[in-house]
Amino acid sequence: MTGLVVAMDGPSGSGKSSASRGVARALGLRYLDTGAMYRAVTWWMLEQSVDLADPQAIAARALDPVLTMGTDPDAPAVAVGGVDAAGPIRTSEVTAAVSAVSAVPEVRRRLVAEQREIIGVGGIVVEGRDIGTVVVPGAPVKIYLTASAEARALRRTAELVGTTVDVQKAAMARRDTLDSTRKIDPLAMAADAIELDTTALNLEEVIAEVLRVIKEKA
Ligand code: C5P
Repeated sequence: MTGLVVAMDGPSGSGKSSASRGVARALGLRYLDTGAMYRAVTWWMLEQSVDLADPQAIAARALDPVLTMGTDPDAPAVAVGGVDAAGPIRTSEVTAAVSAVSAVPEVRRRLVAEQREIIGVGGIVVEGRDIGTVVVPGAPVKIYLTASAEARALRRTAELVGTTVDVQKAAMARRDTLDSTRKIDPLAMAADAIELDTTALNLEEVIAEVLRVIKEKA
């Protein structure tokens, strides 16, 4: 399936990661988690004590962290400067800070270029917020996953320890607002994307639906 690029966009908790990995596995494709790249840069900046309230300070270091992304859907590795960062990028600290970093044009320019390089000739499922609109506007298959705020918060709460649905709902609403109102490459559905509401679907059903769309479009 060289050439095939499946763009999977949507807000946090819409089920993008599990669905993207499942689809990649089912079709023997590679998988790229672009959110992990923004998280990795954010984690590195927190480690370096960059002032994340200052967009210029973020821009000045945007090119410094060296990222290595794995594309195996069974083990999507991410390393920064050769150090495994798969665990640290998922902390609540990074989650709370990532939207400030991802809104900085210098960071986006750099990561979009790296994403296009990894995507190369295709054969890949790519998940993010701007894949169908900015990173690969010519992707043959574009899916925009949504789900109700309640369902998204319930899913996220089940994945984490020591949190509540209300806390998660508020955190996700804040992040989605920041991501969809930023000036550069905001979270948005491409005009030619297929919207899939996953509120009432389980993972197998979401994967089956995406596979059906791929068969139809690709
Ligand atoms: O998908 P995930 O929740 O891990 O993404 C973390 C953050 O990275 C998002 O909240 C958003 O700020 C940023 N992001 C982005 N563009 C992408 C993917 C993620 O701005 N393509």
